[in-house]
Amino acid sequence: MKAFIYAVEREAKPLLDIFKAKFEKRVGQLEIYSVNKQELHFCVCLGGIGKVASSSSISLLESVIDEPIEEIINVGVAGSINPSKVGILDAVISTSLAQHDVDTTPVGDPAGLISGINKVYFDADENIRKKLVKAASNVGVKPVEGIVASGDQFIATDEQRKRISDTFGAITVDMEAAAEAQVAYMLGIPFCSLKVISDANEHAKEYRENEKKAAELAAKIILEYLQMD
Ligand code: ADE
Repeated sequence: MKAFIYAVEREAKPLLDIFKAKFEKRVGQLEIYSVNKQELHFCVCLGGIGKVASSSSISLLESVIDEPIEEIINVGVAGSINPSKVGILDAVISTSLAQHDVDTTPVGDPAGLISGINKVYFDADENIRKKLVKAASNVGVKPVEGIVASGDQFIATDEQRKRISDTFGAITVDMEAAAEAQVAYMLGIPFCSLKVISDANEHAKEYRENEKKAAELAAKIILEYLQMD
C-alpha cells in the first residue's frame, strides 16, 4: 500500500476531498484515512507537525496496518530558501534530505550527521522522484529537484536560510520530510517528498496567504501521480 503522509488536515484536505477518503482510525495523534476505489488503494495520514510527530507516525502506521507499506511520500507545503531558484507554488521533489537542526559538531562530526546511522543525507527513491517530477509537469506545476532540509523550526530569516543553504546545499525547508526519510530508510521503505512552496521571502505572511493554494496543487500532482500507475 502507498502511504501519503501529511502534517495537518488543512494540507491534506484537498486530496481527502477528491477521493472522499474514509477515516479509518486514530492512533495517538496519528489519523489514518484510506482510499479503496477501483484499482486505487492507498492511505493518507495526518502525522502532526515537527520531526518527532511525523517520524513516529510512520512507526505507528507500520504497527497498525496489516499490509506492507510499499512506498511513502511526504506531501505538504514548504519554504524556499533560495527564491531565485525556487519560487512560490513551485513543486520541490526531494533528491535527498537532511536534518538541519541535528548538531554534534562539538565532538567532531559534520553538521547534520545522524549518529549511529552515520549519514547526513537520506536519498529519495529514484523511481518515485522521477514519477513525481513528471506528474508535476503534466499538471502544469514547475518541478524543481533538490535537497530538502528539515528541522523543528519555522525558518523565517535570511541568516537561517543562508546557514541551511551553505551547510546542506538545500533549496527547501520544512519540519517533517527528512525525519520521515530517516525512518523510512531504517525500515527499508522507498521514500520521497513532494512539497509545494508556500513562502519564499516574507515567510510568515506568505505562508498564510499561499498555504491553501499550495495544498491544492500538491493534491493535483498526487492525483496525476496515482493515475500514472
Ligand atoms: N513550512 C512551510 N514554510 C516553512 C518554513 N519557512 N520553515 C519551515 N517549515 C515550513
